[in-house]
Amino acid sequence: MSHGVAANTNSKKNARMKTDTKTEAARDVGSGALLGRVLVACEYSGAVRDAFAARGWLAWSCDLLPSETPGNHYQGDVRDMLDAGWDILIAHPPCTHLAVSGARWFPAKRASGEQQAALDFVSMLLEAPATHIALENPISIISSKIRKPDQIIQPWQFGHGEVKATCLWLKNLPKLTPTQIVEGREARVHKMPPGPDRWKERSRTLPGIAEAFADQWTRATRPNIGHEPRAGDALAPKK
Ligand SMILES: C[S@@+](CC[C@H](N)C(=O)[O-])C[C@H]1O[C@@H](n2cnc3c(N)ncnc32)[C@H](O)[C@@H]1O
Repeated sequence: MSHGVAANTNSKKNARMKTDTKTEAARDVGSGALLGRVLVACEYSGAVRDAFAARGWLAWSCDLLPSETPGNHYQGDVRDMLDAGWDILIAHPPCTHLAVSGARWFPAKRASGEQQAALDFVSMLLEAPATHIALENPISIISSKIRKPDQIIQPWQFGHGEVKATCLWLKNLPKLTPTQIVEGREARVHKMPPGPDRWKERSRTLPGIAEAFADQWTRATRPNIGHEPRAGDALAPKK
């Protein structure tokens, strides 16, 4: 199996990533004398990758699609990358066969095996060899078939005036604290016009949530480095 590599700001690294095997792909992400290594699985936007990179992590995104933004990106199957020795794995697996909003199609998806394959993919990500893991999905049958989420967040808790319940399954990471509670409660994604890119608009990680992931989970996993006061400090529970 051969996998291409998306446009990358680092041409040397990019050339190294033009590999054909899982082993080579996993070996070539670089050691990075930075805070550590972060893999953002199933991300074409670069939103979470860039938020971690801005804080000093060696951050890679990985998706079957090219990255929309320049940066370290492996275009291919995330299974090629999971064994590379990641400190943090943030995963956004597809919800197409899992989200309860599509429950009317579940019988067909069960019969075809697509639903079980999607659940197996999620289980593999949750059990990946990374010290800290966060997996994100909408309200889905992951809750009943694998386990309940550790937290459900909303965009309006992170500066975006809209509703979209987003579940987080966490391993060795704290729950997120809201950073900026805003008034709007619009279901923006439901109002989007039909079109080939609708699913992308619906699934792209919002900047306020990407920033909260990177900011709060950098603090949690690297408590001994100097941290600036953070957005949302006033909202944090008083100790
Ligand atoms: C729900 S979208 C997540 C988008 C993400 N929130 C972002 O901001 O880019 C799921 C993504 O998983 C990708 N994907 C599906 N199977 C994959 C695989 N085996 N390896 C890597 N990416 C995969 C899809 O191409 C799709 O872009």
